[in-house]
Amino acid sequence: MIKSAKELTAEEKMRLICGKDFWHTDDLGGKLPQITVADGPVGLRVVKERREDGTETSYPSVAYPSIQLLANTWSTESAKEMGECLADDCKERDVDILLAPGVNIKRNPLNGRNFEYFSEDPVLAGRMAKSYIEGVQEQGVGVCLKHFCCNNLEYDRLHQSSDVDERTLRELYYRPFQIACEAKPVSVMSSYNRINGTYGAEYRRGFDVLRNEFGFDGAIFSDWSAVRDRTASAKAGLDLSMPICDDHYQKLRTDYEAGRLTDEELDRCAQRVLDLIHRCKAMHRGKQVVKTEKKRAEAAKAIAADGMVLLKNDGLLPLGGAKRISVCGCFAKPDTVDMLRGGGSAGVEWLDKTFDIPAALERRGYAVAYEGAFRYDGVESFNQNARTALLNAAKSDVNVVCVGTGNPVEYEAGDRKTLRLPEVQERAILETAEQNENTIVVVFAGGAVDMSVWADKVRAILYAGFPGMGGDEVVADILTGKINPSGKLSETFPLSAESVPAVNAYRVAGVTRYQEGLDVGYRYFVTYEVPVLYPFGYGLGYSEFTYKELLLTAEEDRLRVSCSIENISSRDGKEIVQVYVRECAPLVYRPKKELKAFSKSEIKAGQTKPFEFVLHGDAFAHWSVAENKWEITDGVYEISVGASSQDIRLIGKITIENGKITVV
Ligand code: BGC
Repeated sequence: MIKSAKELTAEEKMRLICGKDFWHTDDLGGKLPQITVADGPVGLRVVKERREDGTETSYPSVAYPSIQLLANTWSTESAKEMGECLADDCKERDVDILLAPGVNIKRNPLNGRNFEYFSEDPVLAGRMAKSYIEGVQEQGVGVCLKHFCCNNLEYDRLHQSSDVDERTLRELYYRPFQIACEAKPVSVMSSYNRINGTYGAEYRRGFDVLRNEFGFDGAIFSDWSAVRDRTASAKAGLDLSMPICDDHYQKLRTDYEAGRLTDEELDRCAQRVLDLIHRCKAMHRGKQVVKTEKKRAEAAKAIAADGMVLLKNDGLLPLGGAKRISVCGCFAKPDTVDMLRGGGSAGVEWLDKTFDIPAALERRGYAVAYEGAFRYDGVESFNQNARTALLNAAKSDVNVVCVGTGNPVEYEAGDRKTLRLPEVQERAILETAEQNENTIVVVFAGGAVDMSVWADKVRAILYAGFPGMGGDEVVADILTGKINPSGKLSETFPLSAESVPAVNAYRVAGVTRYQEGLDVGYRYFVTYEVPVLYPFGYGLGYSEFTYKELLLTAEEDRLRVSCSIENISSRDGKEIVQVYVRECAPLVYRPKKELKAFSKSEIKAGQTKPFEFVLHGDAFAHWSVAENKWEITDGVYEISVGASSQDIRLIGKITIENGKITVV
């Protein structure tokens, strides 16, 4: 078995560091085992056929909730479970590396790929990704953590330079990669865009940080067709360019022969690809499929149940006595599951395409009158029976309107034009709500939605995300009360896109300036007290909790934060407790709240449960530009424990002097 790149010829090494085709490494004519890679983050996408026009069909697979909905669970157990399930999907199709997860920060809510990413917060994104990676890799399949780095918009993604200052890079954009690297991903994918002018595939400075500071010991892949100059990228430390491209190979040969690429540089990349092949094959050995397809589909449903967010409820939910329900909006019974998923490489061919909310409600004993009301065909229009929806609403006890975005709106290679829903959908909500005061809106989307036009005209709003298979059953169970919703928002829902600094930041052909610096997501809204529609970390349920007994215990360089949460309602429920830190009177600018820890747990009705968190030095540190390292300033820090970024229930203070923590 070939273990050292030195055993290969220069030509073989050059072949090895360029993909063999779209989805495989080169086996050098049978000399080496071959690695198979496949998308995607929320359902395996193994391509069955690639047509000449570039379109593809893929094998059906279990479709899990989108990464955004997974992040809304705030449950690292759910992230791990989704990873384990995906590893089983991979094993069944002989896939060695899953091209996921993506941990890019949601800087701009209009980003077309936000449904693929976890959060606007680096700690939430990093911790969820870390657990997901552990889930996949412990089951014998590798991951490819992506897209390194600052791929925060799809606009002109092959050329844009994300111009970011070092402190912001460290504290926001690198941070989720740093945390996720603790799970030892076998590979990282570079981004399409440039970072401060340098192409993602040639970003040596960032690759060095990954390898020398974050402990990353795997191989770095290019994003698909993102390599511009294969020699420059190899010199920078990009190990594998994907997919196949003869020009890249020829360029390497010419430059190698001319001495522009040294043996040392070539060996370094080839050795890392070789190590990757052996590492993946060793990981795989002896690992069986653990969960049946049925069990995986059940897991997908359970994760969706944990992630859907009840945004508004004035007491109408759960539905009690209502017998006649009008269901309006074709998202309730979609013609295509494209309406319930994002598009591009993360698109999954659903194994089971059944999705029928009216039928799910009927099975639960309700009399349902359904009308699609509007079309979903790119032409925003009502259908010929739109009036029926109004009549149904007028005759029913309750009116449920199902709206959303779907693939043509949220997809790879393009951004959303607006956070608002198409006008026909907004009108369907407003006009049926006029007929029936008990109106509930269910939203299917992969990112923030501007609901300001209609949010105060309806009695309840359930954010169902891109729910994956079985999401219809989950929605019906939440509306009727069998499931107690427990998701919270992993991103701010602003009043409008225009209120987000990144949306208004400088952008021309070729350059996007991250001029807002650290003021991304709630960091901005909280610090500058700018109103939002629904804040980061927010979500309702059918239980009610009180927070009490905050206890801060200093243990030299660590702080133990404990508190008790009491479920004062008569329903068992789950609460997500969040710990934020603020440096009081800082020497350098710091946002007024930064998430440092979180935990989700079930609390039985009437019971009290202890929660405990340990904050290490990194919870208080900032990136010092002057010293070029993380630094903890001597001073006073506020520790707040809350139910959301804007619902703080307990506050305590500490001082730090020479790294030593003292509780005030
Ligand atoms: C995407 C990656 C994906 C790759 C392979 C690229 O267009 O940016 O996320 O893994 O294609 O499909």
